[in-house]
Formats: sequence, C-alpha cells, structure tokens
Amino acid sequence: MKKHITKTLAIVFSLYLIIVLNACQTSPASTSMHRPAGGPEDVHYARQLWQALQEKQLVGEQARTSKPFFGGAKPHGMILEVMAQNLMLNKHTGFVIVKKNYNGDQVSVANVERDRKRYLSSITVMYQREAGYDPDNQNWFWVKYQPDGQLFEKNTPMGRFLMAGKIMKGKTPEQNGGCIYCHRSAGGGDYIFYPNIHNPNIGNKNQTH
Ligand code: HEC
Repeated sequence: MKKHITKTLAIVFSLYLIIVLNACQTSPASTSMHRPAGGPEDVHYARQLWQALQEKQLVGEQARTSKPFFGGAKPHGMILEVMAQNLMLNKHTGFVIVKKNYNGDQVSVANVERDRKRYLSSITVMYQREAGYDPDNQNWFWVKYQPDGQLFEKNTPMGRFLMAGKIMKGKTPEQNGGCIYCHRSAGGGDYIFYPNIHNPNIGNKNQTH
C-alpha cells in the first residue's frame, strides 16, 4: 500500500514537473531569449528609437522632407525617401538610416510630393547600436514601422513576431533571413546598399570589424 502511494505521488510529481517546465518554455520571457527579434526589449528599444527619430524630425507629423525618388526594388517601396545621420539614443551615438516607402494607386514622385501621408506605407530603419549588440552584423538594429510608429508584425513558420531587433538572425550566418540576410550582401561590406550613403563612424569604436 505504501509503495502504491509513493508511486502515485511520483507520477503526480513528474506530471507537475512536465507542466511547469512546458509553461516556462512557452512563456514570453524565455521565448525572447531564443528569438533574435520581437522580444520585449526589442519592442521597448524600437519605441525609444521612434521617439528619438521624431525629436530629430526624421519621422512623424513634423518630419523634414527630402526628394523622393523611384526605387522599385523588392521588398521596399516603389517611391522612396531616404535620410541618414548620426543619432543619439540612451547616451549612445550611432548612424541611422531611415527609409520611407511609398506605395499605392497612382504612386509617383510628383504625387508623393503632393501628399506624402496618402502613400506612406512603411518606414524601414537601420540603427547602429552600441558595440556588443550584434557584433556578427556590425551591431545594426532593424525595424519596420507603420506610418504612425507602430511596429509591423510578420508571420513566419515559427509564429508571429513584431519587426524590431536582429531580423532575422539565424544560429549560423547561413541561416540568416530577412533584413540581415539581404543587407549582409550589400557591396562594400557595410550592410548599406546605396553607394552615396557613408557611415561616418566606420573605423571608430562603434565598429567591430
Ligand atoms: C530582399 C532583400 C532585402 C530585404 C529582406 C531587406 N532589404 Fe532593405 N534594402 C534592400 C535593397 C536592394 C535596398 C536598396 C534599394 C531599395 O531601397 O529598394 C535596401 C535599402 C534599405 C535601406 C536604405 C539604406 C541602404 O541599405 O541603402 C534601409 C534603411 C533598409 N533597406 C532597411 C531594411 C530593413 C529594416 C529591413 C527588414 C525589415 C530590410 N531592409 C529588408 C534589400 C532588402
């Protein structure tokens, strides 16, 4: 009889362990540790970045404008507007590139200049964070904002994630996807496609290579 009780207790206890361990594995906190993007810290950082960009009038209602031009390369917009400069966030100064992507019916340079709000579909940003953030990829932080600063969500076979962080860093470079996968192949090895955009911080402590 005593043996039976012990055995039952052992079974109940292992069931309890299985449930608790599973719950831990699916809790958001531990998921974010394995995910390269979309975790609570990424989302928080993206919010702070949006605010800093807004203060410098790079995004938002008061944003400065530059000359839009025809881009047309997938996956970005048809008509684009690109601005780049150094930006301070949390006492770190890093290079930021902000790209506004304009799409929609009758989109053209002239129409965008007339009514930016109507055609703005997304804002893709790369910001070079402090050393150690992602030394494998020159510490770039990637984010895709909606025109109002909310984050885009992406569906993947592993589930949905908010588009902020190391999008989508794999366990090995061969497994990279998304922003990192494409931008790694940009000429010059600086993750920047446009040859006229120069990172002023290359060679100083922000750079790990
Ligand atoms: C399929 C490849 C591809 C993916 C994925 C991609 N990009 Fe790009 N990106 C490009 C190309 C090509 C350009 C230059 C032409 C253009 O703007 O369309 C570019 C340009 C940019 C620029 C302007 C600076 C530069 O590199 O010249 C920014 C900023 C940018 N992308 C951000 C992002 C972000 C953020 C993501 C992920 C959410 C992303 N990109 C995903 C190919 C890609």
